Amino acid sequence: MLRAPDPRDIPLVFFMFEGESPKSSKLFNFLADGEKDYLKKIPGATRVSEKEVKVFLLPNAERKIILVGLGKSKEFIHQKGSLAMRMAVQTARKEKIKKFAFWVGRVGTPKETVKFFEGVATNAIMADFEFVKYKTPPKDGFSFVEEVQGISKSKDKNISEGFKRGMAIGEEVNACRSLANTPGGDMTPKILAQHAEDDSKGTKIKVKILKEDKIKELGMGGILGVSKGSAERPRFIIMEYWGGKKSEKPIVLVGKGVTFDTGGLNLKPEQAIYEMHMDMSGGSAVIHSMRAAARLGIKKNIIALVPAVENMPSGSSYHPGDVLKTMSGKTIEVLNTDAEGRIILADALSYAKKYDPRLVVDVATLTGAAMVALGQRYSGLFTPSQKLEAVFRKLGEETGDKVWPLPLSADFEEDIKGTFGDWANISKTRYGGATTAAAFLWQWAKDYPWVHLDIAPRMTTIEGDYLAKGAAGAPVRLLVRLLEEF
Ligand code: BES
Ligand code: ZN
Ligand code: ZN
Repeated sequence: MLRAPDPRDIPLVFFMFEGESPKSSKLFNFLADGEKDYLKKIPGATRVSEKEVKVFLLPNAERKIILVGLGKSKEFIHQKGSLAMRMAVQTARKEKIKKFAFWVGRVGTPKETVKFFEGVATNAIMADFEFVKYKTPPKDGFSFVEEVQGISKSKDKNISEGFKRGMAIGEEVNACRSLANTPGGDMTPKILAQHAEDDSKGTKIKVKILKEDKIKELGMGGILGVSKGSAERPRFIIMEYWGGKKSEKPIVLVGKGVTFDTGGLNLKPEQAIYEMHMDMSGGSAVIHSMRAAARLGIKKNIIALVPAVENMPSGSSYHPGDVLKTMSGKTIEVLNTDAEGRIILADALSYAKKYDPRLVVDVATLTGAAMVALGQRYSGLFTPSQKLEAVFRKLGEETGDKVWPLPLSADFEEDIKGTFGDWANISKTRYGGATTAAAFLWQWAKDYPWVHLDIAPRMTTIEGDYLAKGAAGAPVRLLVRLLEEF
């Protein structure tokens, strides 16, 4: 992606602060004299405001120039750079531009430079994605950017290092999005498990897939219960990456893998069932964060666990009122078959104990209530540890996978006490649904440091993301940074 400077005949992108004109960029020197004169003369080519994009066709070389506004330089934060890069790539795709160059330079310390350009590259790759697998290609092919060149005065190892890392991360974010976007008919627990296996080939990741007999043997009554209604049988996906010292305790990532959530006998209404093929987004995120960790050669021990089921209504479905015995021995009184995520996660959180983890993070499209509380820009963050809360908020801001804390305390246990089982899978009230779901999970996560991310708010992209419609790929960027730094 990063190439030696030769921007003479390829489209150029100028990222400009308020008050700047293309002239103030070092990239301007690469233009031919005629191009410079032209650019100086055309009205509007001297300024762009924040989030504004302008495209000009220079007459002589017949090349396009894209101006992207960054806003006031004093108010610049990394997130604005990420968005600007996404806008540049989206514009290039619209203009059918296959290559472009932009000016790069050091940003603070070497380490800061790596991180900054890692973010730039990650976001360029994320913007260059669209889920076209099921579409007939147009005659001249789908329009994607094939190459982005960073032009600088002298070679800077940190910039190319950032680009390289960012590309790997961006590609895994996109692979996560592809997987989550795959329609429910083509994405069953078995296929999800196969994907985890196939994608680990050629890496140091070891994959073990538990089938129904083994799931039974382990006493994972939660997973079995939810899976009862579907012809597609459950899988329990285990990925192990031993990149650290033998003596070092692992970080365990747990991802909700509901390949389609109809709600079960508490069937979802029309509007709510739409997009429920993405209810394995948490599973997809942990699988691809793990793969990113392996690609980056992170020297840590990492485990990913994905309970994979399909939640279907049928003659063999689990019923409201059923009491399920989980692997831990604790029982769950099923009051609503649509609150299935927490049931399968209960078994996965118990299984995590086997690894004596130093941290367990579960990632799940768990509740619509998290979306009601937070909107669609932040995932819900729940943890009994204030320290972990601070760590995750910081990682979220840095990487762009933003998370915001919601309450979690023993107070809420009142709301989920069962009548005929230990814990009810829905609350007695209709308030604070994201928190009561977290309080439920907590009952299975008391033996290790634990963080729960409710990513329902970030399941899909929104307009202001400047990304293709569909799965957002959250929180792969956050998890990769966590695996690296925690
Ligand atoms: N998968 C859904 C949550 C969801 C909703 C994710 C919308 C993404 C977008 C989850 O299994 C569910 O159905 N939750 C119920 C819980 C309720 C029955 C207590 C919900 O949020 O309505
Ligand atoms: Zn559900
Ligand atoms: Zn669900």
